[in-house]
Amino acid sequence: MSSLAPPALGQASSRAGGGSVIRVEDLGKTYGGQVEAVKGVSFEVAAGEIFGFLGPNGAGKTTTVSMLTTLLRPTRGRATVAGLDVATQAARVRREIGLVFQDSTADGELTGRENLTLAGGLFGMTPAECRGPIEMLLSRMDLADAGDRRVKGYSGGMKRRLELAVAMVHTPKILFLDEPTIGLDPQGRAGFWRYIQELRREQQVTIFMTTHYLDEVENLCDRIAIIDHGRIIATGTNDALKENVGGDVVELRVPDRARDLTEPLRSVPGVREVLREANLYTVKCARAEGLVSSLVMACDGAGVTPEGITVRRPSIDRVFLELTGKAYREEGYDDGRAAQASAFGGRRGAKN
Ligand SMILES: Nc1ncnc2c1ncn2[C@@H]1O[C@H](COP(=O)(O)OP(=O)(O)OP(=O)(O)O)[C@@H](O)[C@H]1O
Ligand SMILES: [Mg+2]
Repeated sequence: MSSLAPPALGQASSRAGGGSVIRVEDLGKTYGGQVEAVKGVSFEVAAGEIFGFLGPNGAGKTTTVSMLTTLLRPTRGRATVAGLDVATQAARVRREIGLVFQDSTADGELTGRENLTLAGGLFGMTPAECRGPIEMLLSRMDLADAGDRRVKGYSGGMKRRLELAVAMVHTPKILFLDEPTIGLDPQGRAGFWRYIQELRREQQVTIFMTTHYLDEVENLCDRIAIIDHGRIIATGTNDALKENVGGDVVELRVPDRARDLTEPLRSVPGVREVLREANLYTVKCARAEGLVSSLVMACDGAGVTPEGITVRRPSIDRVFLELTGKAYREEGYDDGRAAQASAFGGRRGAKN
């Protein structure tokens, strides 16, 4: 294989504290001296982590990915990928990474197998060297039967899976995905993300992905950075971000004419606030896990048996709303670019 990440990266796991493989410090890009697309962002991505970069249209996601993958030169700050400086060691960075770009890059006139051989060649791999990885990738991406068909006849989902295979042909340990599920239906998206999770689990690949789909960051990402208007407005795990905006809510419905439970509920450790409206109590806390049984016991202790209990976690949408004062709405999956444009088009000018 022509390029392998340094051994330390391959063996590392974020959860085991494998260290950062992407370090970004005050990174920025001003296009043509006028459009300040990225205004000095800083974050780190640990080895083996799936890191989500979430933001609406025009937020600066592709610009950031382009700088980290050496396609664009930063106009401010600095970034290292696999310990290599993206501005001064670009050629070496490129050998360490795989990239699935927002727009499709496969050649429709070539077959899947030919596209993969071509990609391997760009990394100095001979056709013989490519053969093993290509067969493995085609099989892994459910494209084994389609490998000798021209790509222009592939479905959208097949094309996206091929893009992922192309990005992985030189076995990089760091994968950049710029809105890789644009244009896929929900089933296609679920399948694509299954492959990503397998790559991480089986090969400890570190994944940096941009998306404007809230469910992708909720279900897939270990940590998230939210970018808006070129600035990172929050970074953390899903849970940490949600706790920061008020945490969980437990609703307890008790029988009519039950005695007042405000004080017994308030005395349960971990409870932040108790609100009562008729026979419905709203209990606010950082995390509801582990607290529900204590709340039920507090009710029992007061001689009241709850009739219903509901736990609500805030959504990432709520996090975005709290931080920016505006909702982060999503619309439709079917038509990639149109959906992307319509989802945020009306909001771009709402701020500043
Ligand atoms: N080549 C360019 N020249 C001038 N301005 C640009 C260029 N590329 C992007 N921009 C501007 O930079 C800002 C950030 O664009 P970018 O493509 O990074 O956003 P994005 O978050 O990837 O958006 P999307 O969700 O639409 O892909 C936008 O205002 C965009 O118009
Ligand atoms: Mg983009």
